[in-house]
Amino acid sequence: MGLVTSISSKARILVVDDEPGMQQYLRTVLEAGSYEVFTVPSGLEALARVTEDPLPDVVLLDVLMPNMDGLRTLEKLRETRPGLKVVMLSCSTDPRNVVQAIRSGATDYLTKPFQISELEAVLRHSLASHAVSSGADGEATKVEIEDIGGDQFFVAASPAMRKIRAQVDQVANFNVPVLILGESGTGKEVVARLVHKRSARADRPFMKVNCAALPADLLESELFGYEPGAFTGANRAKPGKFELCDTGTFLLDEIGELPAALQAKLLHVIQDQEFSRLGSRSTIKVDVRVLAATNVDIQEAIAAKRFREDLFYRLNTFTIQIPPLRERREEIPLLLSQFMARFALRYARAPLPLSPGLVDACVRYSWPGNLRELENFVKRYLILADESLVRTEMQEKVNGLGPAPEAPAAKDPPPTAGGLKSLVRNVKDLAEIEAISRALEETRWNRKKAARLLEISYKALLYKIRQYGIEK
Ligand SMILES: Nc1ncnc2c1ncn2[C@@H]1O[C@H](COP(=O)(O)OP(=O)(O)OP(=O)(O)O)[C@@H](O)[C@H]1O
Ligand SMILES: [Mg+2]
Repeated sequence: MGLVTSISSKARILVVDDEPGMQQYLRTVLEAGSYEVFTVPSGLEALARVTEDPLPDVVLLDVLMPNMDGLRTLEKLRETRPGLKVVMLSCSTDPRNVVQAIRSGATDYLTKPFQISELEAVLRHSLASHAVSSGADGEATKVEIEDIGGDQFFVAASPAMRKIRAQVDQVANFNVPVLILGESGTGKEVVARLVHKRSARADRPFMKVNCAALPADLLESELFGYEPGAFTGANRAKPGKFELCDTGTFLLDEIGELPAALQAKLLHVIQDQEFSRLGSRSTIKVDVRVLAATNVDIQEAIAAKRFREDLFYRLNTFTIQIPPLRERREEIPLLLSQFMARFALRYARAPLPLSPGLVDACVRYSWPGNLRELENFVKRYLILADESLVRTEMQEKVNGLGPAPEAPAAKDPPPTAGGLKSLVRNVKDLAEIEAISRALEETRWNRKKAARLLEISYKALLYKIRQYGIEK
């Protein structure tokens, strides 16, 4: 079956499974693919096996085993040998196991019964990342997955992302601003949350404001608060987010859009840790760690005098540049399985198979919307449960045809009574409702602004709000 065409010396696989039948099956299949195979029937024996040389290149680890189960074994293995690649063999359709396994550092998982081609793809991927990073530095093979709260993970599986992870660790506990740069959807907010989480402020508030979402005056009162009478309609005093975030971390998203008048005020906050509410003469002291993110070229904004150079230098004390997904394609297979496990859990579905063809197509695709687009792709696949449909859609994007939700379903007849079309429509509606609600929230229901954000006409937005019955 040509399992190891590109690998010269035999790769070693350790199979951990209590069922003799499964051990035998994997041994036969893998030896036919020119792997060197070791089998053990329990977690304890697996632990003993990895204390001696030569170490296996990949461990295939069953989830359901008596005494020490697969998850427990995984944790122990990761403690003993953090760089070890472990693929979980789960026969349950319970996505919690998979999520747990991935959180504990499993490289990948296979759901029993699996096809030989799936086994082949998973091993090829595991060994490829091994080949790339095996060298003097064994730690380099480590995949880092960190829970950052709110059902979010931070995955670092490429040298570039591991470097970013290290930078975050370096800077987390220095109370300096951090400027986070990267294309849309690359994970700027995720990195900001990681900085917060790794800092001594971790159990203090983390807040964010999108500087592009609000008009200047609203943004000012949002950030700095106001006193009664500061402007028409200001009846009561209201604290701003900087005050509410005292002792915490504050993310200014899309900092390049911060209006000029507020740039001066922000500089003051960063330099002196103080500011005044609108309509007030007295100053307020705060202890806020400022993080800023942007996907636009600030240098250009500085040259055009839209952004103060002195503020830029303050924010730029420490910069983290996140590469686009197409420059770290080796992470795509892992991210796919991560997102699959996570959304399966969220939507209470069994994770769908990620076939070698699908993974390959994803690795080759350029992902202009970066990780957000990849996430949406997995969600869509999970909901549609139709690999050929999502692959056709991806191909259409490559061909510049845009999404075609009513794509021909000639090969597969509609699976449900409502039919594929209505299913697709639902998915599209859901995505639209989500996007509209978010834009309205971000603009505090300023529909003109929201329409601009969504790049649709004001009228169209009003229509959609009514159509979907979206409420405040
Ligand atoms: N390293 C990562 N590991 C796991 N998930 C990630 C990672 N980076 C980003 N994501 C996910 O991808 C999505 C986009 O990330 P995020 O919102 O941080 O991007 P962004 O750069 O702030 O995007 P935008 O410029 O559009 O605001 C999020 O749902 C996030 O959870
Ligand atoms: Mg963001």
